[in-house]
Amino acid sequence: MLHQLTYISTARPTLILSDVEQILQASRRRNERDQVTGLLIFDGKRFLQALEGPIDAVEQTFARIATDPRHRALVKLSSRHVDTREFGNWSMGSHLTGPVMGKGDVVGHVEAMTESLTDPNVRETLRGFARLRSGSPS
Ligand SMILES: Cc1cc2nc3c(=O)[nH]c(=O)nc-3n(C[C@H](O)[C@H](O)[C@H](O)COP(=O)(O)O)c2cc1C
Repeated sequence: MLHQLTYISTARPTLILSDVEQILQASRRRNERDQVTGLLIFDGKRFLQALEGPIDAVEQTFARIATDPRHRALVKLSSRHVDTREFGNWSMGSHLTGPVMGKGDVVGHVEAMTESLTDPNVRETLRGFARLRSGSPS
């Protein structure tokens, strides 16, 4: 059973770029081992993450993430069964933007990464987040 979970959270205010790099490095290592794939978007203030994989692995990963003091106010956006991986095969694809990271085309990036999502609600939630964060009209 393949499972997909998305959530949004708020970064601890003192978080710096090297923290994000550390998170990505550890995530890629662990996720590869656990057969978890997904996407992490960070705009300098909020995280948006998608996790995909065997349901037990996704739930255990999310449980660890949820207690991580580097962010707070986690809100689960979706949790659903999927037939195939919809976010590609990255152990953790990423897009960093905002004031700390320098500007990037977050909208275009997220649109491309959500292209094959079968659930229009999840797709619109992620795209809406990207549009909102970038300040472009929705
Ligand atoms: C925004 C955010 C996203 C994270 N994503 C992952 C992830 O995809 N996979 C993962 O194993 N850990 C992720 N982590 C790190 C975990 O919270 C935790 O530090 C890591 O899994 C190591 O756990 P351990 O020290 O118990 O081994 C993330 C942390 C944050 C703050």
